[in-house]
Amino acid sequence: MKKTLIICESKYGTTKKAADTLALILGPSKVISCNEFNEEYKNYDFFVLGSPIYMESFDEKIIRFAIEERDFLRTKKIALFCTCLAKSKEKEYFKPIISILEKECIVTAKALGGALKLKELEKEDMDLLISFSEKAKIVLKDADFYDVKEVVDLGLEIKGFRDKIIPSAPYLKVKFLLEEFLKCHNTCTLSTSFNGRVRGTPIEYTYEDGYIYLFSEGGEKFANILLNENVSISIYDNYDNMTKLAGVQIFGKAYIVPYRGKEYCDIAQIKGLNVEQLLKLPIKMNIIKIKLIRAEILFSKFKTMGYDIRQIFNFE
Ligand SMILES: Cc1cc2nc3c(=O)[nH]c(=O)nc-3n(C[C@H](O)[C@H](O)[C@H](O)COP(=O)(O)O)c2cc1C
Repeated sequence: MKKTLIICESKYGTTKKAADTLALILGPSKVISCNEFNEEYKNYDFFVLGSPIYMESFDEKIIRFAIEERDFLRTKKIALFCTCLAKSKEKEYFKPIISILEKECIVTAKALGGALKLKELEKEDMDLLISFSEKAKIVLKDADFYDVKEVVDLGLEIKGFRDKIIPSAPYLKVKFLLEEFLKCHNTCTLSTSFNGRVRGTPIEYTYEDGYIYLFSEGGEKFANILLNENVSISIYDNYDNMTKLAGVQIFGKAYIVPYRGKEYCDIAQIKGLNVEQLLKLPIKMNIIKIKLIRAEILFSKFKTMGYDIRQIFNFE
């Protein structure tokens, strides 16, 4: 698994709060401040630098850290973020740090809404802000632009970049092992949702050529699928030990197959069911067809084969 190190400074806690939220999404990860950095952290695979903006600049400790570790950091992929009140000045705020680290290693640089609580400020900061507000003729007051959704969105964006640095096992090898796993299991958890309604349904499945088929008499999962085709399927072995991990989480799009149609009959045959008998049942048996899009796979097998334990597979 690729490890992410988040290095951040935060005098009043907002940048740290954002860093901790990013760490949850980017795990396995750790959040440290600049002075905690040492040689041991150099074996992390992906780096995030986070800073508050004070008087139009990144925290000086972050700038100093970037200068001191410039040669090392330039060999890595790095995401940058800051928290501030004037997000519109994002480009201006990032310019100095980007010029220190060079554009090539930076995957994203984003300003997040920050917060200012005047009562919490150290005297020196309060004095700076009072004199700034007088010069700029603005009223100095509390502000809170911190938005957890904005931070979560950034976390997912950074995760997308981080996942790209995972060295991929050969496509056909991943496909073979994934399909073997899907075929030798027969029960999944189907997750569906709409608005605040979430279902995690244990259900028997059949896998065939990029699709998962589910037979069901009905239930609340249909209420969700009818209103939101996006579903997630989890299939996994019981945990035994870290050398035998096997689990997969697949994102897909669900569709309810029209009853009695040709497709319905074809799928029943794939499952080895007698179509006539199925249609004669006293209740209507529904079929959900899920087009599989993207699988996140965690197989210890990959590690023993010399690849990262976590692989992403995009179905064609
Ligand atoms: C002394 C001081 C100067 C600040 N200067 C700026 C600034 O130039 N531009 C801006 O957008 N926000 C500015 N802010 C707001 C901070 O960037 C915001 O409060 C940030 O979220 C603080 O992060 P922290 O809680 O991690 O320290 C300033 C805040 C302080 C206390």
